[in-house]
Amino acid sequence: MITFDEKTGIFHLKNAYTSYVLQLVRNKYLLHRYWGRPLRAFRDSTPFQAIDRAFSPQPAAWPNERTFSLDVLPQEYPAYGHGDYRLPAYAVRLSNGTTVTELAYSSYKIKAGKPALRGLPAAYAKADEAETLTISLNDTKGALGIELSYTIFADQPVIARSARIINTGSQPVELLSAASFAMDFADHDFDRLSLYGGHAAERSLERVPLMHGIQETASRRGASSHQQSPFLALARREATEMSGDVYGFSLVWSGEFSFRTEVEQFGSTRVLGGINPAEFRWHLKAGESFQTPEALMTFSPDGFNGMSQAFHHIVREHIVRGRHQHALRPILVNNWEATYFDFDDEKIDKLADCAADLGIELLVLDDGWFGHRNDDNTSLGDWVINTKKLKKGLNGVADSAHRRGLKFGLWFEPEMVSEDSDLYRVHPDWTLHVPNYPASYSRHQLVLDLSREEVRDYIVTSVSKVLHSAPIDYVKWDFNRHLSEAFSAALPAERQGETKTRFVLGLYDVLERLTKAFPDILFESCSGGGGRFDAGMLYYMPQTWASDNTDAVCRLAIQSGTSMVFPPITMGAHVSVTPNHQMGRTTSMQTRAICAMAGDFGYELDITRMSDAEKQQVRDHIALYKKIRPTLQLGRFYRLLTPFAGDRNETAWEFVSEDDKQVVLMYFKTLATPATPIRTLNLQALDQEAEYELTTYLPAQRTSMDFGGEARSNLVGQCFYGDELMYSGLSVEKIDTDFAGFLWVFDRK
Ligand code: DGJ
Repeated sequence: MITFDEKTGIFHLKNAYTSYVLQLVRNKYLLHRYWGRPLRAFRDSTPFQAIDRAFSPQPAAWPNERTFSLDVLPQEYPAYGHGDYRLPAYAVRLSNGTTVTELAYSSYKIKAGKPALRGLPAAYAKADEAETLTISLNDTKGALGIELSYTIFADQPVIARSARIINTGSQPVELLSAASFAMDFADHDFDRLSLYGGHAAERSLERVPLMHGIQETASRRGASSHQQSPFLALARREATEMSGDVYGFSLVWSGEFSFRTEVEQFGSTRVLGGINPAEFRWHLKAGESFQTPEALMTFSPDGFNGMSQAFHHIVREHIVRGRHQHALRPILVNNWEATYFDFDDEKIDKLADCAADLGIELLVLDDGWFGHRNDDNTSLGDWVINTKKLKKGLNGVADSAHRRGLKFGLWFEPEMVSEDSDLYRVHPDWTLHVPNYPASYSRHQLVLDLSREEVRDYIVTSVSKVLHSAPIDYVKWDFNRHLSEAFSAALPAERQGETKTRFVLGLYDVLERLTKAFPDILFESCSGGGGRFDAGMLYYMPQTWASDNTDAVCRLAIQSGTSMVFPPITMGAHVSVTPNHQMGRTTSMQTRAICAMAGDFGYELDITRMSDAEKQQVRDHIALYKKIRPTLQLGRFYRLLTPFAGDRNETAWEFVSEDDKQVVLMYFKTLATPATPIRTLNLQALDQEAEYELTTYLPAQRTSMDFGGEARSNLVGQCFYGDELMYSGLSVEKIDTDFAGFLWVFDRK
């Protein structure tokens, strides 16, 4: 899959889906030559044109060759200071104060498989699943070595890249930035896609033209964040959901990040991404090295859908690990929106009784079970059960769930501490803070300094103690504020710029230890909803609570946006009460249920207060979900319509089972429209020659009290060939209600 031609200096990474080509030029410079559809061979039909460009300097070795300048060459990991005025991939300050280094090629290695990145989450692969090229570059004066790593996966259009910066000199070096990857496209005929949002409004898709100058998608919050996601795509202007070339980038990193694009004077585009350099510094003593996080890069000739299919595959097969990787995820009920902090044994038991009766499989006890936490002002850090609220103790609560046939789960927020906690009273210096400056509160809590080993040990010990104390099957790991005053009392002055990065590395250490020690526990990560929905967290915890916003209409956008990179099985999605607690909106139980079935399905409302008719509807939904769960959780996912396009009024999602035997189709129309055209849905990825029987149809429930959901046109029992469903399509019956949700199940004959 990876070849090197000594004569031409061409490195060609290739599989059946993509080619990525680098070239070693003048035995010194590593240039980017091609990335896209697979090529039989790269013989340079696009040779560099010798043009004397004004104000583009020549490297010292070729002073008279006025057509040779790094300023105009497409590079793979550009250095700063030798006449390339575009964004550098890395920046350093040497002990003499200079920021100039010069990279020259040194050697390469090609290995089967993919080596792990020490201390970092990264895609993993067996020897026959991937091949890895490592290219070593050295500063010509010996100050620095850089190892660039490129993995190509055997069966996906995906390249994983990262870099290691080594201080090969005898003096300390200050690393000012280190991108995970950099590369240059020859032109800028692209749109730029990113996911933006906020708390309760995560991951809306934004598509804008790529512009001259620098555009950035970034987080400076110490976490990957609700506000911007560590994802970027460059799409050809004509690209659509199903067609056109799209290049996607996603970081396996949960801290602050930056993706920058720069379109320069001659129209080429540089793109680079990695840890946000704004406040990043890393002090490298002689011999020390810094490993960047990994970037996953996908090429799709089949539009955004192709990009998402590739990301979904890599996340499912090469990022998520452990016993739950391919296991079906349980249907849960979470008490948060049911009780908030106001619960006791009796309430939880009633919830458990009702959950068992409805067919729910997991009871999750959310925030408020520890210390004396009756609101969000206290007790974070004191992971000891509050026996005033839960007189039976944790064992008692877990046992009573288990007795009812339910699994039992518990909420933690271990990276935080409340000022009103025993932990803070004993260790006030364990928080991130700047001495003599006040610390900023957010949700009235402070962030623990996970760069410190003793803090990490405390977290591992205190959480482990709870997990050992009772039979716990599931953990929700929350993170409800961003970093501020990111100073560590344990680091010397010259290392303070490392604090935010060390915080994330510390978190990874904690997660590695805990998930290894408790392999049977299903971990779900959360950050005030989906504030840390990234491939780094998914490496440790196979699912993430997608948003604190449980309103089905808002969820259509949140889940569609999230699906650009992450498969449905990674997204926690729950049915909640109406009027919805975040939006005040009333939607039918059915619309809420269908939308939540498109993720890891659960309930988050006081199910004990539902009417008998509602309970029966929930039983029916759960029974249906159990039948189609393998298709929804393990199948392939297609966006047919998204709320980011057109009048933003319609969403359609399709799931095809792994064995191609079942298809589930969902359609949502947000507002009913007058003089409405008939909507036809063209299904994707069916076998045109196979027959599919419509076995289940849930038409839109017209009001919240209309449990019948009576169909006007009912095709249940009819069989259609795949070609008809794809090319002629399936029409949706007339809709006379807002917030309509439909579901169809087809089984292949
Ligand atoms: C934020 C989470 O996203 C919610 O689901 C809930 O767990 C609260 N935190 C509890 O404080």
